[in-house]
Amino acid sequence: TAQAAAGASHHHTVTVAHRGASAYAPENTLAAVDAADDLGIDWVENDVQRTRDGELIIMHDTTLNRTTDVEEVFPDRAPWKISDFTLDEIEKLDAGSWFGSKFAGEPVPTLEEYLDRVSDNHQKLLMEIKAPELYPGIERQALRELRREGWLDRKHLRRLIVQSFSADSVQAVHKLRRDVKTGFLGTPPVADLPRYAEFADQINPSHTTIDAAYVEEIQAVRGAHGRPLEVYTWTVNDAPNAVKVARMGVDGIITNKPDVVREALDDV
Ligand code: G3P
Ligand code: CA
Repeated sequence: TAQAAAGASHHHTVTVAHRGASAYAPENTLAAVDAADDLGIDWVENDVQRTRDGELIIMHDTTLNRTTDVEEVFPDRAPWKISDFTLDEIEKLDAGSWFGSKFAGEPVPTLEEYLDRVSDNHQKLLMEIKAPELYPGIERQALRELRREGWLDRKHLRRLIVQSFSADSVQAVHKLRRDVKTGFLGTPPVADLPRYAEFADQINPSHTTIDAAYVEEIQAVRGAHGRPLEVYTWTVNDAPNAVKVARMGVDGIITNKPDVVREALDDV
């Protein structure tokens, strides 16, 4: 079975800090990148979106109000969409206080600032293009920034995966830069896997939607670069579920608590 094979082969499962180590620091901030680094976690996940004046920033929601103090700073700007605010305005916001007073003043990072920090920490990046339907052309723009920062240099390519819930967006990235590793977020039917494999190297489903047979079906298909499709599953925040998906043979676990997952993996 997949379970026995995974155990017998000491299959290595990658641990990815979801929005950074977001159980311990405010999600998608540089503090969350550093929190992962402090735990010795080398992969971080983030979400990229675009401001009104065309700058790429890191945030999960398409609105600013859950993870910043925007309602206080700009009370008359509901519903506080990222795409309605300039970078200058977003830089006035506090993206840390909602999480804890010790993070007061933590800014919303630009993609450039975020890439710099991940590089400085010698970490690796699973970058999600979030809600690309709101930001036409964001794939080309994000790749341009990655290239400018050196992330598309041949020796650095293995430190990067670009993923999205939008198949069109993943396909766009693959067409623009064939050498970039890509992931599709979702749980496609097995019959559709070969179609996704034309432009993706990973299929990344919610852990609530998978079993060992499904993981095995995915890994039986060759991805865009000719290697077996990988499975990075999300968002697994406790040891029993980490052990469960590791035994299914997943290649990666995306988690808010990377320390808990890494420790659980010792028992698999
Ligand atoms: O990386 C997987 C996960 O981030 C997908 O869901 O909503 O947290 O972006 P979400
Ligand atoms: Ca995400």
